[in-house]
Amino acid sequence: MIPNHRLRRAPWLLGLLWLALALALTAAPGSSPGAGATASSGSATIVVNRGAVSFSPATVTLAGGGSLTLVNLDTFDHTVTSVATDAAGAPLFDVRVAAGTSATITGVEALAEGAFDFFCKLHPQMRGQVRVEGGGGTVTPQLPSFDQPLAVPREVRGARITVPIREARVRMLASGPTTRMWTYGGSYPGPTIVRPAGRQTRVRFVHQLPRKAGAMTVHLHGDHHAPEHDGQPTTHLVRPGKSRTYDYPLTYGGLPEPSSFFFYHDHRMDRTARNNWRGLQGMFVVEDPSESRLRLPAGSRDVPLMISDRSFRSDNALTNPFAQGPRMVGHHGAMAWVGPHAPPNDATVGTHVLVNGRHAPYLPVSATRYRLRLLNASHFSAYSIGLSDGRPLLQIGTGNGLLSRPVVRDRVLLGPAQRADVIVDFHGASGRDLVLDSVPAAAGESGDDARAAALMQFRVGAEAADPSRLPARLPAPDLVRVPKKVSKTWTFGLDGTKQHGTFWSVNERAYDPERVDHRARLGTVERWRLRNTSDLTHYVHIHAEQWRTVLRDGKAPPPWEQGLEDTWRLEPGEVVEVAARFEDYTGPFMIHCHMLDHEDHGMMARFDVVR
Ligand code: C2O
Ligand code: CU
Ligand code: CU
Repeated sequence: MIPNHRLRRAPWLLGLLWLALALALTAAPGSSPGAGATASSGSATIVVNRGAVSFSPATVTLAGGGSLTLVNLDTFDHTVTSVATDAAGAPLFDVRVAAGTSATITGVEALAEGAFDFFCKLHPQMRGQVRVEGGGGTVTPQLPSFDQPLAVPREVRGARITVPIREARVRMLASGPTTRMWTYGGSYPGPTIVRPAGRQTRVRFVHQLPRKAGAMTVHLHGDHHAPEHDGQPTTHLVRPGKSRTYDYPLTYGGLPEPSSFFFYHDHRMDRTARNNWRGLQGMFVVEDPSESRLRLPAGSRDVPLMISDRSFRSDNALTNPFAQGPRMVGHHGAMAWVGPHAPPNDATVGTHVLVNGRHAPYLPVSATRYRLRLLNASHFSAYSIGLSDGRPLLQIGTGNGLLSRPVVRDRVLLGPAQRADVIVDFHGASGRDLVLDSVPAAAGESGDDARAAALMQFRVGAEAADPSRLPARLPAPDLVRVPKKVSKTWTFGLDGTKQHGTFWSVNERAYDPERVDHRARLGTVERWRLRNTSDLTHYVHIHAEQWRTVLRDGKAPPPWEQGLEDTWRLEPGEVVEVAARFEDYTGPFMIHCHMLDHEDHGMMARFDVVR
């Protein structure tokens, strides 16, 4: 942790907390917080020390029916969330404990005998285990039953497309009522738009949501287009009852764009997290017709998979994580947020992980090769994606084009807005059910903050004719020559004062749509440095251009990061350098964290491309 970026709390508060801890200990004799070793007793207490990013002890033992208490001495909120779920997919226990408070972890008292792993949803690298000995309750973990089919969104392929933005009921959970959402075209995700590279595409969005939803704006993430068609937060909005047509030429410097896997989503000022949560997300594939000679898996063996997460009420309605605020104070250039869900506790994490909008779906496949286009459209969570039998994923592309050769990967780590294009060979798995899952890396390793989850199931059927091939070399897009000098450094951090509240920052300032934070000249190549000085991993996205990764922490990036990219993982303390040429369009564009609450709470900046 980097203590100087933490906000100071009054010392009297700390004193009060130690008192609370002492009381908790007397109430639960025999428990041993902080002792590392396991302790057996009726009840137990776990502590999160200030700045610790860990539970102490990490393993506790209780008698069945006993209670578990978390004392949070930290300046961040934390949750105690079970990895195992009930039959409906909800965690067996899931309690959020605000900074400087303590709480009983309800649900633990009902657990049957056994060992139950838990983690913090806001800091998934914090992990622990509660062991229940004898007696007590009856609640046991249930594996997801994968009993609803995967939904593959309808494809639309025309040069002129109309997409209503409207309310619709969507099947998300396997049983019970459907869920009311805000949708693109009546489904979640919206229709998948599939277009040939280099062919002008006009998408008209018609705002049919209730007036109180406010104006909308639609960003085609990853694509290269003019600022007025970029779906920016405060300009060229789609007003209630009105429509707007976005022009996507799908060209780059006059040539067709590389084949890519983009997504379109709402980008409204201060409301992006809410509008995406309600359902305004869809996928967009740009095809390069000459790629068909590669004979990659195609048709029904080319499957786009959008991963997201949501929480539900008992009637299957979406919860509203934004009901509690936070409240904005100040104004552009000097604004901050206060109250619950203010930075740095503004992490929107759903209890249920969804694939193409459905919880734990299954897909029947033949024992052949498949192309899976993976998109993490979550607000906050990262996933380390792989197959349950250890079968590798062959990564052939990023979201912005092919890699120059396939890369064998056991797991693909994707944070918010990141994509990967992979081939899976189901040969030899006939009759088996394989699970696409997310398994975090070991503690202390890169990717230890990924979320543990079963995403979906592949039911592998018979072998079948498979005309696909796996080329050893791929036609990757050209990369720019990297300038020696860095033209701009962007620093991502947490700022604020006790009086004025907190905000996520870029170069120590909160986003102001009127302020130009950098100017880049059209036709030139720039090299930018991205630095994370905060305690959390961020995922930084740059609009307008498609970038090559030059250095990651001073070293050549790994092979899967050597194609074109638009969103980078930046762990605490990390420095990534990227380069691109500013082509075709002048005007304002954004650079921001793609954790949607961070974006809404200041972590965005503006750069202008100028002549
Ligand atoms: Cu996917 Cu500026 O966003
Ligand atoms: Cu936490
Ligand atoms: Cu962030």
